[in-house]
Amino acid sequence: MASTTTYKNVIVEKDSGLTWVTLNRPDKRNAMSPALDQEMLDVILSLEGDPETRVLILTGAGEAFCAGMDLKLYFRALENKPAERIRAEWVTHQWRWYRLWNFPKPTIAMVNGYCMGGAFTQLIACDFAFAAEDAKFGLSEVNWGILPGGLVSKALHVTLGYRDAMYYSLTGESFDGKKAEEIKLITKAVPASELRAVTTEFAKRFLKLNPETLRGTKQGLKAVRDMDIGQAHEYLMAKSNELRARDTENGYSQGIKQFIDDKTFKPGLGAYKRPE
Ligand code: COA
Repeated sequence: MASTTTYKNVIVEKDSGLTWVTLNRPDKRNAMSPALDQEMLDVILSLEGDPETRVLILTGAGEAFCAGMDLKLYFRALENKPAERIRAEWVTHQWRWYRLWNFPKPTIAMVNGYCMGGAFTQLIACDFAFAAEDAKFGLSEVNWGILPGGLVSKALHVTLGYRDAMYYSLTGESFDGKKAEEIKLITKAVPASELRAVTTEFAKRFLKLNPETLRGTKQGLKAVRDMDIGQAHEYLMAKSNELRARDTENGYSQGIKQFIDDKTFKPGLGAYKRPE
């Protein structure tokens, strides 16, 4: 059953396991104001443990995915308000990186238009990104006297090679969805008219898979990035045990039984049959 919750700056739509989160300031190209960031933090926190949310899809209303930080309300308005500025910085980084990067279910950025500056943080924090071929990306900071701060420069290293990260940071040159796919900033670029259907189809794949296994796989892959081999090995053994302990659906035993005993399933060819 589909349901929609409309906040002042965000829309949340839940539909059969997929939760669409839409930044909703289209007249400001979905630039991130402190009020929008506060709502997004509340939204993401509430979706983390929400059983109706199996996959989170982040997008923007109107012509833009997100035009970055709000120059008026996040930058200028807080210039002489250090306490409010500290709070706003904490909130924006919490939702865009710490909560979204660590979100315990698959996340997809659906880039429908402009994706500028600070928006790269949530773009990269998502596990996957699909974009319209004519979407416009740009690290515009260098054009007006700031650097790709917050966590943008750090996040770039997660997806881009060094030459591309340096090129686009230092030139501020904008590029389209096709280029974004070529430099591996996004998963795939598709014609704008197909973007929602392609994203939906992709997201639905995760509904067939065991949620705890998805969580453990995602967390494991991310955690070992910065570990040495020995630490990674130890961590992954412990994580595997944690997965077995948490998985009340018991995917491991179900899968083994369906393959070895029942001969109804081949793990190399698709997902095991989950209990109804
Ligand atoms: N902060 C605050 N307001 C913004 C904004 C931002 N980052 N991006 C767009 N807006 C506002 C504009 O000021 C304008 O408001 P107004 O109608 O009250 O004048 C409205 O959104 C529409 O923007 P406009 O520039 O007319 O739209 P456009 O479609 O012609 O251009 C962009 C879109 C994204 C290319 C352009 O708005 C832009 O360059 N924005 C800034 C991008 C940026 O540098 N972001 C990085 C910040 S970290």
